[in-house]
Amino acid sequence: MLKGLILAGGFATRLRPLSCSKPKLLFPIVGTPLIDRMTEWLSQGNIGRVILAVNHLSDKLRMEVAARQLGDRVVLSVEETPLGTGGPLKLAASLLDNSDPVVVVNGDVVTDIDLGALVRAHKAGGVEATIAVFSVGETKPFGLVTLDSDDRIVGFQEKSVKNRRRGWINAGVYILNQNVIEMIPSGRAVSLEREVFPVLADQRKLRGWRHTGFWYDVGTVQDYVAANMDLLKRRERSLREPKRGVPLALLEQPSYISGDCVVGTGAKLGPFTILSPKVKVENGASVRDSIVFESTVLGENCRIEGSVIGEATRIGRGAKIGKGSVVAGEVTVPDGEVLGPGSIVLN
Ligand code: GDD
Ligand code: MG
Repeated sequence: MLKGLILAGGFATRLRPLSCSKPKLLFPIVGTPLIDRMTEWLSQGNIGRVILAVNHLSDKLRMEVAARQLGDRVVLSVEETPLGTGGPLKLAASLLDNSDPVVVVNGDVVTDIDLGALVRAHKAGGVEATIAVFSVGETKPFGLVTLDSDDRIVGFQEKSVKNRRRGWINAGVYILNQNVIEMIPSGRAVSLEREVFPVLADQRKLRGWRHTGFWYDVGTVQDYVAANMDLLKRRERSLREPKRGVPLALLEQPSYISGDCVVGTGAKLGPFTILSPKVKVENGASVRDSIVFESTVLGENCRIEGSVIGEATRIGRGAKIGKGSVVAGEVTVPDGEVLGPGSIVLN
């Protein structure tokens, strides 16, 4: 049986302040927590057991796994100190040893990569590791791969400073033979991208598998918002109406309102508004171009534009939140507060 490991540690500093109270894997993607998308995606790829390699906020993840009764499929491997992208594989080696190969995914990618096809390509490819690669317009924030005519990776450069624009990058989805895990030193943080893949590339034991569907890394607030809005445009999920309240005329598409939100009279939602489950929108509030995390209350007549609002937060009556703002989870914005564009509210 194939096993998968999701790299879900690190401090997600580029998602602060939203990540102060919520691990990346629990961020909602068009209303659905990333962990649910990922476990579903892995099971479609026939990956029976999943290891979550975690450290920061691991208790919250443990609770969510328990709440979903995923305990027989998903186990946590908790690092005392962050071990990078390679160290967690070594730490979890005993949990992975009867799986050959192992499927490894970065815990912040949202994609429709066909994992079954990727595994088959790896088995046919005669190499130690196969990396899904994706073509992007700006390669600098990623791992740049150089492919030969047979799709072998002949060069791997993490966060290459070369001024290269369009190119194929590491999509953060790998199929690794046990031999690769054996190459990883134990007891310290190890970067697969800086210490392992360049070596395998030099040895010509690494292949790329070109993905042409959709792919997003949601590791920064800007990329997180862009991915959600893009998925909304693709109408990947059916757009639902709120259960009660808002007349159709006041809901502008594309928007996604989770089924169990409550929307008051005269509230205006959309376009490009995503409400996660259990959001309460009070009378006369308006929200556009924004994402609201679960269990948040948007007070009467408040106005939210182009922002992300964390979970279990309360936006006061008549408050105004300007474009590009980020409000952390579990905070209260007082009644009547006016936050200018680009405000950051910490918890
Ligand atoms: N368990 C664990 N421990 N996970 C970690 C740790 C750690 O110490 N550090 C990072 N991770 C997880 C992150 O949560 C994330 O899911 C994944 O490893 C990759 O780390 P990022 O910090 O998101 O890296 P990146 O986005 O800058 O670059 C990586 O992803 C790109 C594609 O999105 C690299 O793999 C690039 O080569 C790649 O192109
Ligand atoms: Mg990332």
